Amino acid sequence: MASKKTVPITRPTLEAHGAYAPSFKKIIGSGMLTTAGHVREFEERTAKYLGVKYCVATSSCTAGLMLVFKHLGLRGEVIMPSFTFLASGLPVLWNNLTPVFADIDPHTYCLDPEAVEKLINKKTAAIFATHVFGVPAEVEKLRALARKYKLKLVFDAAHAFGSSHQGLPVGGFGHAEVFSLSPTKVLTAGEGGIVATNDKALATFVKAGRNYGDMGQNDITHVGLSARMPELSAALGLRSLRKLDANLKRRRAAAAYLIGELAKTEPNLHFQKIPAGAETTFKDFSVYVDPKTLGYTRDDLHDYFASRGVTTRKYFYPPLHKMKAYRGARKGSLAVTERITKNVLSLPMYAHLTKADMDRIIRVFKEFVHAR
Ligand SMILES: Cc1ncc(COP(=O)(O)O)c(C=O)c1O
Repeated sequence: MASKKTVPITRPTLEAHGAYAPSFKKIIGSGMLTTAGHVREFEERTAKYLGVKYCVATSSCTAGLMLVFKHLGLRGEVIMPSFTFLASGLPVLWNNLTPVFADIDPHTYCLDPEAVEKLINKKTAAIFATHVFGVPAEVEKLRALARKYKLKLVFDAAHAFGSSHQGLPVGGFGHAEVFSLSPTKVLTAGEGGIVATNDKALATFVKAGRNYGDMGQNDITHVGLSARMPELSAALGLRSLRKLDANLKRRRAAAAYLIGELAKTEPNLHFQKIPAGAETTFKDFSVYVDPKTLGYTRDDLHDYFASRGVTTRKYFYPPLHKMKAYRGARKGSLAVTERITKNVLSLPMYAHLTKADMDRIIRVFKEFVHAR
């Protein structure tokens, strides 16, 4: 009874366990469990894929971002979105910086450069943008602002390994871009992060920083973390990287099919805009439910899907400026953020989502719409 099984929001697309066996055997046999050959190979291959000079593997995206901000040595304010994952701002807080929340574009859900510029003042030290659900942020406009006001520019690229902007892979923009390799990401290492940069000093700092701040000289040069990537994770990541393009193709085809079919049922349902010249990973596949035109809410849709065994998620809800850890933040007008956070719903998405599961999602959606 396949239809009784819950459709998950996402699952990592893994190979049969035998595919991992040779490298796992090698790692166990060598006794080198952390930051050895597989991590180095993973760093080299990801740097090549992204077209950047350096990739440094860490234990998580959060740890990578903490080290990037530590290296930048900033004081004052960092302008960032509130519509992002709850952990996005933690590297800012850990570095004793003040988040300043700027509004987002109503179609791409990424940071709105005009809203950013309005918030720049003497205390502003950096702009920190998220490529939301894999859709690239407005890199040129943000870069122009960073140049004009002499600010650092960092990207939370957690969702975006495999995204591109004007033919260039996400990864080479700003001072650094940091990816997450947790199980919900298209490129996964179980857990992990990748700091991508063209800045040698930054890469060297993060390499030492993931190892307490020690470059192997037994002399800590700065305050670091214990944030290395295990070899087994790097081996998983290497296999995931080999399959990345094929998995991205399947996700994009799945998203195109879902968009076409859902829009047939509900022409006024909206989807996240992918700007011309950009490609997304569809780390999340979301629909925008406008209660005024549709007569039902995002929450109604969420609850109906849940009652019919289809898992959906309210990403990102609540937004950061509503969370206790961020209460010291400054903020601009967040009217678009407030609207998007209430109306966006992520539906199941993964590379091995079957046609039968997609048709079930579409059927449940049709039932929901027609019952109203
Ligand atoms: C936008 C964003 N930033 C940061 C993170 C944190 O990543 P990690 O769990 O690798 O630290 C996530 C995790 O999902 C995320 O979605």
